[in-house]
Amino acid sequence: MGRMRGMAVGLCIAGAAVTVLSLGWFSDKLYTRVRPGQLAYQPMEEMPPRVDMASVQRDWPASFNEPGEGSRVIAYQRAMRGKAPAPGAAGGAVAAAPPPDLGSLLASADAGAGKQKIQLCMSCHDFTQGGVNRIGPNLWGVVGRPVASHAGFAYSPAMQAHKGSWDYEALFAFLGSPGRVVPGTKMSFAGLRRPEDRAAVIKYLATLGTGAPPLPQPKAIAAR
Ligand code: HEC
Repeated sequence: MGRMRGMAVGLCIAGAAVTVLSLGWFSDKLYTRVRPGQLAYQPMEEMPPRVDMASVQRDWPASFNEPGEGSRVIAYQRAMRGKAPAPGAAGGAVAAAPPPDLGSLLASADAGAGKQKIQLCMSCHDFTQGGVNRIGPNLWGVVGRPVASHAGFAYSPAMQAHKGSWDYEALFAFLGSPGRVVPGTKMSFAGLRRPEDRAAVIKYLATLGTGAPPLPQPKAIAAR
C-alpha cells in the first residue's frame, strides 16, 4: 500500500512538471516576447495623423456626398473618437475657427468667377431672361423667387414640397448638396463643395433680374 501511494505521488509530480513546462512552451508560441524598454503596444499619440481635420471641418457637411468622401468621413470619425473636449473647454481638435458667415463670404465673392462656374449648370439650366426650361428650370431671377415656381417646368414632388423662396441661405445650402437638402430632387448634381464657389455663383445669380433681395450683411469681426 505504501509503495502504491509513493508511485501515485511520483506520477502526480511528474505530470505537474510536464504540464508546467508545456504551458510555458505554448505561451511562448502564443505571445511575442517584448524586449526590456520596448512597448508592447503602439501608443495612440505616435500614430501619424492621416486626415486634414481643418479641411474636413471646413467642408462639413456640404461635401458629404462627393466621391471618396465616405472614407474621409470614416477617418474623421475615427480620429475624433474620444477626443471631443468638454463643453467650453479650450483647445481640442474640434474647436477649429468657425467658418465665415454667409454675409462675409458673399461680400468677398467674385460674381465674375460665378459666371464662369455656372458653365457647370448650363447643360441643364438656361440663365437668360425669358429663356427655355431644359432638364432643369430657367434660372433668370432665381434669387428671391419662390421655390418650384417657374412656369412650365415640371418640378419633382420633393422640390414642390420644399417650401420658402430661394434666398441666399437657401441657395447656399441647396447648391452645396442638392440631394441632401432636398432629398428626392431630380437635380442630379453633386453640389459645389467649396463655399467660395457657391458664394460666387449666388452673387452672379443675384445680378440676373431685379428680384434679388439685398445681400446679407457680413457679421462684425468682433463677434467672431
Ligand atoms: C444634371 C442637370 C442639372 C445640373 C448640372 C444642375 N441642375 Fe439645377 N436643377 C436641375 C433640375 C432637374 C431641377 C429641378 C429639381 C426638382 O424639381 O427636383 C433643378 C433645380 C434647380 C434650382 C431650383 C429652381 C426652382 O425654380 O426652384 C436651382 C436654384 C438650381 N437648380 C440651380 C443650379 C445651379 C446653380 C447649378 C450649377 C451649379 C445647377 N442647378 C446644376 C438640374 C440640374
